[in-house]
Amino acid sequence: MYKFLKRKSIPVKHCLGHYSLIISLNAIVVRTAGHQFMKTQVAIIGAGPSGLLLGRLLELQGIDNIIIETKSPDYVLSRIRAGVLEQGTQMLMREAQVGQRMDSEGHVHEGFALSFLGRLERIDIKALTGGKTVMVYGQTEVTKDLMDARNLSGATSFYEADEVTLHDFYSDKPSVSFLSNGQRLTVECDYIAGCDGFHGVARKSIPSEAIRLFERVYPFGWLGILSRTPPVSEELIYANHERGFALCSMRSSMLSRYYVQCSLDDKVENWSDQRFWDELRLRLPEAAAQSLITGPSIEKSIAPLRSFVAEPMQFGQLFLVGDAAHIVPPTGAKGLNLAASDVYTLYNILRKRYKENRLDLLTKYSEICLRRIWKAERFSWWMTSILHKFSDDAFNQRIQEAELDYYTSSLAGQTTVAENYVGLPYEAVE
Ligand code: APR
Ligand code: PHB
Repeated sequence: MYKFLKRKSIPVKHCLGHYSLIISLNAIVVRTAGHQFMKTQVAIIGAGPSGLLLGRLLELQGIDNIIIETKSPDYVLSRIRAGVLEQGTQMLMREAQVGQRMDSEGHVHEGFALSFLGRLERIDIKALTGGKTVMVYGQTEVTKDLMDARNLSGATSFYEADEVTLHDFYSDKPSVSFLSNGQRLTVECDYIAGCDGFHGVARKSIPSEAIRLFERVYPFGWLGILSRTPPVSEELIYANHERGFALCSMRSSMLSRYYVQCSLDDKVENWSDQRFWDELRLRLPEAAAQSLITGPSIEKSIAPLRSFVAEPMQFGQLFLVGDAAHIVPPTGAKGLNLAASDVYTLYNILRKRYKENRLDLLTKYSEICLRRIWKAERFSWWMTSILHKFSDDAFNQRIQEAELDYYTSSLAGQTTVAENYVGLPYEAVE
């Protein structure tokens, strides 16, 4: 009987006729001509924040997993994404033993501002939530820290995988097959984690009668710009203006991220840097507009906004995680944080399933995740609805201004905004 080599092993290769058997770090491999079979405990589809964070947490518990990703590592890291981390997300990064750079390079934010009618109203999230804060640390950095840790540990990942296909996830022998460098591989597993984002294959593999989709597509987009300039403010500014929404954010003290609402059929080529800066200034309060330092864009893109939820999130041995199951408009900075709370729930369910034989927890995944997801969907929808221009309807503009005036002048209103922005508590898995 072969000893299952857990640590960094020298693959042990045995030729059994036309089969060959390789035992490596976290997978048993049987190879036939043209087709390779592997076995692991959890097959993770997608190497974005969801897949990498889940894989890392499971690995630290000795729960074997294989990540299968369609893109290259460089492509995954090239994505420009928001990075406002709730404390739960920060906690998970530290638990995954990848929080060091976040803690040294991330920026703790104790508040943010809502601007409207030329006013700049600060929401003191730390004072209003008994000390909670958020961390500004780019999602690219989160992904890089997790990717580096996985590379260092030697855990198995397949990048640039093609024809990724899910099999038999309603049975007790699910598997994932794919092409890697022309070789067909099949990973047999106990569970599949669909961490493959909104456009991934996992959700699309579910029979339509087994899943219910909820969606709202917003009638505008965000034109975003990255510039090597100091941010206009140390804290984020979310601006309501009759010309449209604007957001002032940052990646570091010399890397600013700005957005202006634009029409869905707008094109990046219609927006010179100068036009962007002029429009941004028009939507900001006077003081901010005056102190804005502009510079050449190093990235400029338009993103659509949608709210989306798939129910349930579990289908036999398949679990949908993060963007594969839900999307929020970026106005509430919840996308990455919702992915992290899904990972927290699935990680603890699987940890207890393998360590304590708590099979009963497996069926609780959807209900636990969806309770928190829908509250974050509500907050993201609400922030979007009070900050964006939906039409030329003057009544709607006044209602938005009244909403903002109330929520920034009432302690109850401020507290509501603050506790949602820092992130509602995680539900215990027990
Ligand atoms: N097979 C394997 N991998 C796939 C497939 C597929 N068929 N389709 C997509 N992928 C990969 C993508 O290339 C991507 O790297 O799955 C990964 C999904 O990552 P994300 O889209 O980043 O989703 P998630 O990991 O849940 O992170 C959510 O990312 O999109 C932002 O705002 C969102 O911040 C949130 C976070
Ligand atoms: C960003 O920095 O890209 C960002 C920050 C906060 C948001 C959305 C985007 O709500």
